[in-house]
Amino acid sequence: MTLAYWTGTYLPLDDVKVSPLDRGYLFADGVYEVVAVYDGRIFELDAHLDRLARSLAAIRIDPSLDRAGIATVFRQLAETAPRPAATIYMQVTRGAPAQRSHVFPAAAQASILAFAGPLKRLSRAQQEDGFALVSAPDIRWLRCDIKSIALLPSVLAAQNAAEAGALETVMLRGGLVSECAASNVFVVKDGRVATPIADHRILDGINRRLAIRLAEELGIAVEQRDVAEAELRGADEIWITSTTKELAPIVRLDDAAVGSGRPGPVWRRVRDAFDSLVGRPE
Ligand SMILES: Cc1ncc(COP(=O)(O)O)c(C=O)c1O
Repeated sequence: MTLAYWTGTYLPLDDVKVSPLDRGYLFADGVYEVVAVYDGRIFELDAHLDRLARSLAAIRIDPSLDRAGIATVFRQLAETAPRPAATIYMQVTRGAPAQRSHVFPAAAQASILAFAGPLKRLSRAQQEDGFALVSAPDIRWLRCDIKSIALLPSVLAAQNAAEAGALETVMLRGGLVSECAASNVFVVKDGRVATPIADHRILDGINRRLAIRLAEELGIAVEQRDVAEAELRGADEIWITSTTKELAPIVRLDDAAVGSGRPGPVWRRVRDAFDSLVGRPE
C-alpha cells in the first residue's frame, strides 16, 4: 500500500478521489516538487521548500498550508518511504471550483497530493559506462523557472530519449543549450565548467545548485552563462543533474562520442563529493 497525503488527510494512494473539475486536471494549473529520500533522510529539503514557495508565488496559488506544514507532510511520508532510496512527489493545484473557467476561482481550496515511491539510483556500473543524450528543439514556454505540472513538451522529449535508447533529451533554443526534459546540463572544456544561467529559460535544479557548490568546494570554478550548442558538441565532458539521476556522465551526444567517449575526470571528482553526501549506489 502506498500512503498518500491528500489535502489534509493521509490515506492509501488508491483511495484518493480527485474531482474532474480540479484545475490540475483541466488546465495543468499547478506546480510540483520531487525530493529524494536516502535511508529515510530527506535530501536538501529546505531548497525544495524554497523552490516550491517560489513556484506557488509565481502563479499565485495559496497552498493553505504553511512551510512548516508542507515540511511535515514530506517528513511523514519519508518515514514509510521505500528504502534505501525513494522520491516524494508533491503537487499543488488551484483546486476544484464548481465551474470550469480559465479565470482564477474566487473560492477554491488548493488541492495538495503527495506520495512516495522507490528511487532506483543509477548504479556505479551504469555511471562508469556513461549515458547517451539526444538533442531536440526546446518547444517550451518562457517560464521554465516555474516547476509547472504542464509537462507535455518534457513528456515528448523524454519519450524521444527513451525511443533513442538515451538517458535524456537536451533541448536547444536559438543556438543555445537550455536543459534536458527533467535535468540540467553541465559542459567541461579544458578543465573549465559551464552551465546555463538559471533564468526564465530553465528550472534551477536543486542538484544543479549542489553540483556547482561541490565543484567550487573542490576548487573547480563553474561559469553560469549562456552555453552555445557548439560548446556542447565540442565539450570534453557533459554531465546532467537531477534529483533522480543525481550526477550522470554523458558519453554520447546524438551520433558522436563526447570527448574521449568515457566519463571524464572532472565529473568523477564532483560525483565522489556527491556520493560522500548521500552514500554510494550499488
Ligand atoms: C525541466 C527540469 N530541469 C531540471 C530538473 C532538475 O531539477 P532537480 O535537480 O531539482 O531535480 C528538473 C527536475 O525535474 C526538471 O524538470
